[in-house]
Amino acid sequence: MAKPKYKIIIDDIVNDIQEGRLVPNDKLPSQRSLSHKYDVNRSTVVQALDILKSYGIIATSEKKGAYVSNQSWNSLISNNMKWQDFIGNNASKNNLYYVQKINELEFADNMIRMGTGELAPDLIPNQKFKQILSKGNLQLTTNYEEAKGKLELRQAIVDYMKYKGVVCTVDEICITSGALQGLKLIAEGLLVPQSNIIIETPSYIHSVRTWNNISASIKPLHIDYIKRHINNIFKANSNYYNSIFYCIPTLHNPTQHSYSEQEKQKIINQCQQNGIPIVEDDIYGDLWFGDTRPQPMKSLPNSENVIYLGSLSKTVSPGLRIGWIVANKHIVKHLADLKMQSDYGASSISQYIAQQWLSQPQFHEQHVTQLKTILLEKRNLLLAAMAKFLADLGEWNKPQGSFYVWFKLKLPIDMKQLFNMATEAGLIIHPGEIYDRQAQQYIRFSYSYINKDDIEPAFDKLRQLILKLL
Ligand SMILES: Cc1ncc(COP(=O)(O)O)c(C=O)c1O
Repeated sequence: MAKPKYKIIIDDIVNDIQEGRLVPNDKLPSQRSLSHKYDVNRSTVVQALDILKSYGIIATSEKKGAYVSNQSWNSLISNNMKWQDFIGNNASKNNLYYVQKINELEFADNMIRMGTGELAPDLIPNQKFKQILSKGNLQLTTNYEEAKGKLELRQAIVDYMKYKGVVCTVDEICITSGALQGLKLIAEGLLVPQSNIIIETPSYIHSVRTWNNISASIKPLHIDYIKRHINNIFKANSNYYNSIFYCIPTLHNPTQHSYSEQEKQKIINQCQQNGIPIVEDDIYGDLWFGDTRPQPMKSLPNSENVIYLGSLSKTVSPGLRIGWIVANKHIVKHLADLKMQSDYGASSISQYIAQQWLSQPQFHEQHVTQLKTILLEKRNLLLAAMAKFLADLGEWNKPQGSFYVWFKLKLPIDMKQLFNMATEAGLIIHPGEIYDRQAQQYIRFSYSYINKDDIEPAFDKLRQLILKLL
């Protein structure tokens, strides 16, 4: 199979470093000349440079453009180490290694996905989407939509947010291609290199490189630390100018942790005092198994500083790519402008389906109620299998909703070896390092994608593999 063009560019640059033709601080050719040399679009060059940058092989500055970085990386490369192997084996880069492998394996045949954070195909209401699209009075238009997104969809979201206790207007909503684009827009539009991004750790945000390319510094705060210091989370004399705090306050991915309402209020108040906007990622909140779902931060007093992210990915369909931001209308306008520059808006067909879906209670409410019943049943099956096969090997908490179980092994093992052995045995697991570099003894399991019948045999197999490594 021919090597993709972006890989050719990466390999050539790495070879040039290996063979001493490029040394630290050397400027790389311009994007224009690289695209000319390889006969590719600028975007392919940007893709290759972004990858090299994310590995620390190159760096960029406004003055110099792209140049070979000074990091010790380059001495490793020039000592003739294959960069692909190094990336695959360096503990600090395991996160990327696992994510890339998982993304690849998920499309291989016959793999059992023990950690996938996605609804199984039979839980996605494709038939209902078909019904929406085949209605006699279909009002579908597929022109570009308004920058903030289709007005009717934003109206439906205003009502939906009201039901969650959040009062907002259509001008305070921007439709995005999933919550992930919301995160990307916030990075582009609100953060600067001097920003401090305060994040909970572990966190989903470590699994995506969304915020790694801006040079802002990331300040991880362990969830246990936040809870223990709930009355004084932020250091008194630190400078929080240009900072933001990103959190998943309800049914956190991967730990399933939820703050109490009182804790949420304390976080809001302290962020207000320190001038720190909060990015509240609430994409799992609807999947709370109990009767009353916890209130989002955005619904609590004093929460004007909260930028709220919602999405249909976890409750309805990830492939629709419909998410939304709720925030102050000036922020929304700014982010909507940026969004226009990036993709001219989420698919108008998806926006139409989402609007119909959310404005008709027989669709969304009924679906979420049924979905929770199925997820609860699958959770119980998964917990039973864990109790049977893993009780002596680790510990975990019972999830109160959504998809995940955060499992901690009692004894340390070589997680990379387990991951690779599991892959060979037809199992995909999500090592904890994806979500926190320090979480080498953890695995994230999920009951959302796996077939009910596969749960027991998968945990049985995994137990045997773990025992081999102890
Ligand atoms: C906490 C969290 N935020 C955002 C996302 C991205 O969701 P979307 O599909 O809406 O982009 C995910 C996906 O797993 C997630 O777990």
